[in-house]
Order: sequence, then structure tokens, then C-alpha cells
Amino acid sequence: MKSSTVASLALVATLWLSLLCALTALTSASYDDDLLQSVTSRYVRPNMLSPDIPLTDIRVQSRSGGVEQVHLTAGRHDRVYLVYVREIPDNFSGQLPLQGTVRFGTDPSSLGTETLATGRVYSGMQEYNSYLWNPPMGEPTLNKSAIAALMNTESWTKKWWPLYNNDTAADIPNNKSVNAAYNNPASYYQSPLVYTARLDNLLPNTKYYYDIDGEYTGNFSTNPAPGDMSRPLTIGMWADVGQTNVSALNMEYMLNTVDPHLFMLAADLSYADAYWPRWDSWGRLMEPLMSTKLGLFGQADHEFNVFNENNVAYMFRYPTPFEESNSPTFEYYSYKTGPLHVITLGSYTVFKKGSAQYIWLEHELTKVNRTLTPWLMVMLHVPWYCSNFVHIGEGKLMREAMEPLLYKYGVDVLLAGHVHAYERTHPVYNNATNPCGTVHLDLGDAGNREGAYIPWLEPQPSWSAFRESSFGVGKMTIYNETHAHYEWHRVACEDTNATICATAGDNSAQAHIPSDSTWIVRDTVRCPSRLMPTSAP
Ligand SMILES: *[C@@H]1O[C@H](CO)[C@@H](O)[C@H](O)[C@H]1NC(C)=O
Ligand SMILES: *[C@@H]1O[C@H](CO)[C@@H](O)[C@H](O)[C@H]1NC(C)=O
Ligand SMILES: *[C@@H]1O[C@H](CO)[C@@H](O)[C@H](O)[C@H]1NC(C)=O
Ligand SMILES: *[C@@H]1O[C@H](CO)[C@@H](O)[C@H](O)[C@H]1NC(C)=O
Ligand SMILES: *[C@@H]1O[C@H](CO)[C@@H](O)[C@H](O)[C@H]1NC(C)=O
Ligand SMILES: *[C@@H]1O[C@H](CO)[C@@H](O)[C@H](O)[C@H]1NC(C)=O
Ligand SMILES: *[C@@H]1O[C@H](CO)[C@@H](O)[C@H](O)[C@H]1NC(C)=O
Ligand SMILES: *[C@@H]1O[C@H](CO)[C@@H](O)[C@H](O)[C@H]1NC(C)=O
Ligand SMILES: *[C@@H]1O[C@H](CO)[C@@H](O)[C@H](O)[C@H]1NC(C)=O
Ligand SMILES: *[C@@H]1O[C@H](CO)[C@@H](O)[C@H](O)[C@H]1NC(C)=O
Ligand SMILES: [Fe+2]
Repeated sequence: MKSSTVASLALVATLWLSLLCALTALTSASYDDDLLQSVTSRYVRPNMLSPDIPLTDIRVQSRSGGVEQVHLTAGRHDRVYLVYVREIPDNFSGQLPLQGTVRFGTDPSSLGTETLATGRVYSGMQEYNSYLWNPPMGEPTLNKSAIAALMNTESWTKKWWPLYNNDTAADIPNNKSVNAAYNNPASYYQSPLVYTARLDNLLPNTKYYYDIDGEYTGNFSTNPAPGDMSRPLTIGMWADVGQTNVSALNMEYMLNTVDPHLFMLAADLSYADAYWPRWDSWGRLMEPLMSTKLGLFGQADHEFNVFNENNVAYMFRYPTPFEESNSPTFEYYSYKTGPLHVITLGSYTVFKKGSAQYIWLEHELTKVNRTLTPWLMVMLHVPWYCSNFVHIGEGKLMREAMEPLLYKYGVDVLLAGHVHAYERTHPVYNNATNPCGTVHLDLGDAGNREGAYIPWLEPQPSWSAFRESSFGVGKMTIYNETHAHYEWHRVACEDTNATICATAGDNSAQAHIPSDSTWIVRDTVRCPSRLMPTSAP
């Protein structure tokens, strides 16, 4: 039998089982675990390894001072943040252009509104982490000689200086991250000018055109106002993106096929890991999607704690609507559109009872209007439910601290990342399937260089609905207050024995089929918590 037929049958079976589950959820009076199917996909991505796209690649080239890395983040349904970047050329002289102008409007031939863009720069200390010069996969981005040259202090310090060191490639330890001396100029990174503009008073469901400094034009569509359920709302979901050929395929797939109203990126964006210029190459690689689709971003280990980035690049480049959400920090916020109220949390932000994040979350939950926005979703990074051995149990403490709150307020769906494999759960609470629990989607599989994770915990836990070790993106379409259809699509390396799973050419004919597909149904009769908070006492 041809493998495509097998895949189609698997698809049909999955669809059928999913429908069965949805019907069961709708009709049966008691919740029977036995009726909930658990699928471990036969497919395991062959060789998961793909290298970061080289800095010489045409897709990540600098525009030498021109407008680049344009991206949009959703602020409120009537507000969008537009961010762009300009490099400061080596031969630049005069005054730094700290202000830019963004014009926008609904008529491309007459952009009626003008707003100021504010430019800022930041600095970082360079870290030459092992992935960049001796990665566990593919060709290194930097070779040892190049790193030795960067670390060599001979050109700038006196020979008697204690930190004097003329490292050669042979001195660089194998498979180790190396820091250049703090006073080695070669270890300093200065960002380009990062401009942020706030586009306000936008009409819902409307196409807008914009012009940046008379130099760059684009367009985007605004989302429905909260409560507007007149049209289905499509949400793209992904996490742990990185900057390999697989990341690029996922990005193109998100743009052209998912074609979402809004994408949610559950953290781990660039995998720059304190090799700071990699934030710029990521911004360039993602521009085709991000300059035209609205995104919501989260931050986690690869923004925060990996090699002490401390969220600096993230904070400057990916604004979140936290002030709009009465949140004290960009690390957690909320956003409302159409039938949806999203709450984004920080997995690496203190979460225990009594913490600022916990207090804010509890208050935010009391403000949800389930008539206006019945669908309540949480986005965070480290999954609370995950049956993949890599990272298993990391989300336990946060789950223990916050899951009772999410259950009380009947959170419908939780989107996570971090684990580089795909997994969906049945509605689950307190480590057991529960019809009034939350469906967890672990989507940390959007293409980064670290590859897909195996093995799975066996037997598959009863709360685990579908799991597969490969890379792709999720798509959820909310039709009305009770029904959403959800799919996960495997994107690269469908059924191939390729040793490097990284190119478009590695995809076979059946790439992009929905590998997991199900209805998510909000049953407010069986689960009154899905109407929480109720305004009636
Ligand atoms: C700086 O260099 C670029 C290209 O290398 C050139 O096009 C530009 O005219 C130069 N600008 C100045 C002010 O010299
Ligand atoms: C290392 O990389 C540098 C810069 O890309 C290049 O000039 C050099 O030839 C490389 N050396 C080796 C040994 O590959
Ligand atoms: C630097 O390199 C020179 C020649 O390669 C060598 O003689 C000297 O000892 C080295 N210095 C240090 C501090 O390693
Ligand atoms: C270091 O990396 C190389 C190349 O990836 C690998 O062959 C070697 O086993 C690694 N060494 C250790 C000690 O991990
Ligand atoms: C809107 O932007 C996209 C992406 O840049 C572009 O392909 C498309 O042509 C634009 N549409 C219009 C009507 O300008
Ligand atoms: C919730 O939204 C509904 C529908 O827009 C509205 O009628 C109601 O007043 C809102 N409730 C509160 C407490 O704001
Ligand atoms: C959750 O349930 C699994 C069995 O599905 C069990 O192995 C595990 O110990 C439980 N974890 C907790 C925290 O109760
Ligand atoms: C909600 O949408 C689903 C899927 O399109 C449909 O089957 C169902 O009848 C709709 N429910 C209502 C109340 O419109
Ligand atoms: C992949 O390799 C396995 C084992 O060598 C073989 O059985 C299978 O047919 C191959 N699949 C494809 C799509 O070539
Ligand atoms: C990545 O994609 C580019 C362009 O399609 C191709 O030239 C390159 O060989 C690919 N790299 C790998 C490692 O497959
Ligand atoms: Fe992560």
C-alpha cells in the first residue's frame, strides 16, 4: 500500500474518532474515559535535525539602514503595534533618526492618519553558545576559528593585561558555550534602531494599509470587536519557532494556508540565545508573515533565561498589550476579539499564590464576560500536561499553583510550547480526564534547530488524545459560542527518509494534511464553570 493511502486512512480514522469524541461529549450523560481515544501517531520524523539558516542566506540579509523586520502585534481589537528596524550603517554620520512616521488608512491611495514611531536601541553581551559553533545538528553557524578571532584580545589590549588572551581554535573547548571577556569590544552587541508605532482607533474587520517613512508599504486586517460572532474566527497557533528551513516552511504555511485572523506564538521565538544578531535574522525571516498578520507573543526560556538574555531583545522588539490589560508587566496580559478572551501567562514569572502574576490572573478571570467572549483561552510556554520524556514534569509546579483557578473559571483551551513534539489532550483536570477540564495543546514544534523529541511515555496517559514527534502548526476556527474546529498540520518531512529534514523538497505529496483534527465543544449544561464568572450571585 502506498504510504499516502495509509496516511489518508489514518486521517479518516482520526477524523472519525474525533467526531465520535465530540458527539460523545455532546450526548452522553456520564463521562466515560473508555470512549476517549488516545492516538500515538505512527509517524516519527526521521532525522529531526536542521541547522539555523546561515547568516549569508538571502532571506536574512540586512537592508543596510532601510526599513526591515516589520511586524505587527495585536494591542486591542482597535489597536495594533507596528514595529520595524533600521540598521545604523558603519559610515553613518549626523543625528540618529529617533523618530519615524507611519501613515495608515483604509484607502491605499490616501492614508489619512499619521502616527509617530519611536526608535530605541539596546545592548547585549555576546555569548558564543555551543549550538552556534558546535551544534548537535547540521553545519555550525560559526566555526571555531571565527569564534577564536572574535574572542582574541590581541588587537585591543596590552600584552601585560591580565585578560590578554590570544585564543586559537584549539583553545576553544569542545561543545561548550564561551563568553568573551566583558571588556572585549568584540563581545558587545548594539541593536539596530527598533521603532515602535501605535496605530489607534482602528475599525473592526477592516483592511488597513500602511506606509513607513515613505519607504515601505504593507497592509493588514483588523479583528472583530469582542462579542462579534458573525463570522468564524481563525487562530494560528505555534511555538518554539527558531530559524531553520523548517521554521521558514512553518511561517509560509501559517501565512498562506492557515491564513489566520490572529496567530498566537507561545514563546521561544528566535533561538538567538544571546548571539544577538540572530534576533535580526529572525525578524527578517519572519517578515512575510508578521508584516501582514497580527500576532500575540509570549516569552520564555529562549527569551529570558537561556544565556541570560533576560528578555531584553524580546521586550524591545515584541510589544505586548499589557498596559491595556492592567498588567504590571509585559510578561502577562490579555486580549479580546470576537468570541475569544485570551490570557497570556509567563511560565518563568513567579506564579505562586500571592504573587503579582497570580493576583493579576485571578482578577482578570473575574472580569471575563462569557456572554461577550465565551471562549476562554490561556497561552503559556511550559506545558502542564505532556507525555514526552524530554522536559517531562517541568510544568508541574505552575500547574499545581494555578490549575484550580483555571478549572473554576472553566478555561476551554490552553496553548503551550517548549516540548518539541505535538500533543493534544482531552479535557483534563488534576491529572485525569474531566469533561469540565481544559484541552491542552502542546505546540512546541514549529521548526527550531533542536529537533523533534522522542520518546513518549508508555502507555499513553488516558488524558493524552493525540501525539506525534514531528514539526507543524495548529489552527483553530471558532464558529460560534459552542463549536470550534481544531487541526494540527505536520509541515515538514512528511513521510520521507531524508536524513536532513529541512527543505521544501523534503515534503512529499501529502505534506500539510491535518494529522490531528477534532471539534472542541463547550458544554455549558454539563459544565456551568464554562459560564464563569457569572454576574449573578
Ligand atoms: C555609506 O555606505 C553606503 C554603501 O556602503 C553608501 O551607499 C552610502 O552612500 C554611504 N553613506 C555615506 C554618508 O557615506
Ligand atoms: C571559518 O569561518 C570564517 C568566517 O566565515 C571563514 O573565513 C573561514 O575560512 C572558516 N574557517 C574554516 C577552517 O572553515
Ligand atoms: C599568544 O600567542 C603567541 C604566539 O602564538 C604565544 O607565543 C603566546 O604565548 C600566546 N600568549 C598567551 C597569553 O597565550
Ligand atoms: C562534541 O561534539 C562533537 C560534534 O558534534 C561530538 O562528536 C562529540 O561527541 C561531542 N563531545 C562531547 C564530549 O559531548
Ligand atoms: C497586502 O500585503 C500583502 C503582503 O505584503 C501583499 O502581498 C498584497 O499584495 C497586499 N495587498 C494589497 C491589496 O495591497
Ligand atoms: C457582558 O456582555 C453582554 C453582551 O455584550 C452584555 O449585555 C452584558 O452587559 C455584559 N456584562 C457585564 C457584566 O458587563
Ligand atoms: C498523573 O497520572 C499518571 C498516570 O496517568 C501518574 O503516573 C502520575 O504519577 C500522576 N501525576 C501526578 C502528579 O499525580
Ligand atoms: C455552531 O457551529 C456548529 C459548527 O458549524 C454547528 O454545528 C452548530 O449548530 C452551531 N450552533 C449554533 C448554536 O449556532
Ligand atoms: C523508509 O525507510 C524504511 C526502512 O528502510 C522503508 O521501509 C520505507 O519504505 C521507507 N519509506 C519511504 C517513504 O521511502
Ligand atoms: C534550506 O533551504 C535553502 C533554500 O531553499 C536551500 O538552498 C538549502 O540547501 C536548505 N538547507 C538545508 C540544510 O537543507
Ligand atoms: Fe522552551
